[in-house]
Amino acid sequence: MKKLKVVFSTGAGVSAESGVKTFRDADGLWENYPVMQVASAEGFAADPALVHEFYNARRRQLLEVVPNEAHRLIAELEEDSRFDVKVITQNIDDLHERAGSKDVLHLHGELMKIRSVKDEDYVEELSADDFETTPERRGRNGHPMRPHIVFFNEAVPNITPAMQLAAEADVFVVIGTSLAVYPAAGLMSCVAKGTPIYYIDPNPASTGGVANVTVIREKASVGMKKLVDILHSKLG
Ligand code: APR
Repeated sequence: MKKLKVVFSTGAGVSAESGVKTFRDADGLWENYPVMQVASAEGFAADPALVHEFYNARRRQLLEVVPNEAHRLIAELEEDSRFDVKVITQNIDDLHERAGSKDVLHLHGELMKIRSVKDEDYVEELSADDFETTPERRGRNGHPMRPHIVFFNEAVPNITPAMQLAAEADVFVVIGTSLAVYPAAGLMSCVAKGTPIYYIDPNPASTGGVANVTVIREKASVGMKKLVDILHSKLG
């Protein structure tokens, strides 16, 4: 029997119930930090120590939190042979992976990785025992290292495979994003004509003229429970 291809596109809201701050909600991350100072190439060049410490602080917090029910329900769907599940995320946390998701495409990079400033393909994994980085840290290849994060105004190399996944989806599910940042926000426009889109968010943004969008105005864990029922009903 043909598997139902379900593609998820998640934002900070999917990790909110794990205790990870979103960016633009009240008291969000960007309310407390000057975005361009801590999340842009210019900011990194101007004060690398500040940027390294900003991401060290986010790693410290990440090591204190765990996946929530929404991450778990997505991973559980992957285990169900009737579905072919792919996860695209704007998040740099590893909560989808820690919940058991095997196929996660990160659009904006990964917090627990660093890469050479001279060779963007040279990436090293950090660990719970070794995650503090400084401008003095060198990779095993002797290069200065930087967060493996897509800074503002940098290219989003994974958007191409992400658009392909969206185009192939039988069902496209957007969870916990303000749809404020492109190209990620444009993924729902890449789905094939007639593909149902579900948008799970307690305070959903406008989806413009995109067709076939059903808004589930719930937080991620509650919305995912409703979505699982909808997906099972689609199996007949
Ligand atoms: N469950 C689901 N969604 C939630 C929850 C929750 N418990 N709590 C908040 N949200 C929703 C908010 O309503 C909002 O729509 O999560 C969304 C968070 O929006 P943003 O903070 O803008 O996060 P996101 O859309 O992921 O930001 C995109 O912007 O700053 C850059 O690179 C950064 O990847 C990030 C990108």
